[in-house]
Amino acid sequence: MRKPVFSASRPTRRAIGVFLSAALLTACSASLTGSKTTVLDDSLRRSADAIGTPIRDADLAAWNIDVAPDGRGLPAGSGDVAMGGKIFSAKCAACHGAKGEGSIGDQLVGGRGTLASANPKRTVGSYWPYATTLFDYIRRAMPYNAPQSLSADEVYAVSAWILNQNGIVPDDARLDAHSLASIRMPNRDGFIPDPRPGRL
Ligand code: HEC
Repeated sequence: MRKPVFSASRPTRRAIGVFLSAALLTACSASLTGSKTTVLDDSLRRSADAIGTPIRDADLAAWNIDVAPDGRGLPAGSGDVAMGGKIFSAKCAACHGAKGEGSIGDQLVGGRGTLASANPKRTVGSYWPYATTLFDYIRRAMPYNAPQSLSADEVYAVSAWILNQNGIVPDDARLDAHSLASIRMPNRDGFIPDPRPGRL
């Protein structure tokens, strides 16, 4: 059975009913007497304005960090595999293993060629269709215990290291918005577009 989203005891429900009836009556009588309608509308508008405060641009910018598959939204900056290795050891390995082999956090490296097997290993290297998603995910969610604490350069670097461990970029790779977006992931064609709503 679905749980009700809101449930109230019987006396509470009755009180709500009485309140709603009174509100409806007030609204009706106001609409009958023209001028009162304006008063009611104005006071409603004023109370709606009083809810919350306008969001500041800086606060909005902190939330507006999504990166599209084609790389739109990637910030300036860059980072290389060597720097990424240091960051991974210090801030990621405790949960994902020294080489990204997985521990209490997901396995990030390996698993190529296992997707069609009885024991598929879905890692960044074997499964993810876009390298840009790696940047987006790490920037917004990792390290798990301190999300959004890495600089853009650090996220580029640690992404480069994970991609390098998966054999996708060379040891001397330095990634930025342009080079990250131009990477073709091994499982890029393993996903099909989902046309819903519409015909499958
Ligand atoms: C305290 C433990 C912890 C630390 C530290 C940590 N992670 Fe994670 N990570 C997790 C957990 C748990 C998940 C799974 C989260 C989920 O599914 O909601 C995860 C998921 C991920 C994933 C997605 C894996 C997938 O295939 O879905 C990536 C990529 C990742 N972490 C990268 C990093 C990087 C890079 C760092 C260091 C900057 C890091 N993590 C630090 C615990 C951690």
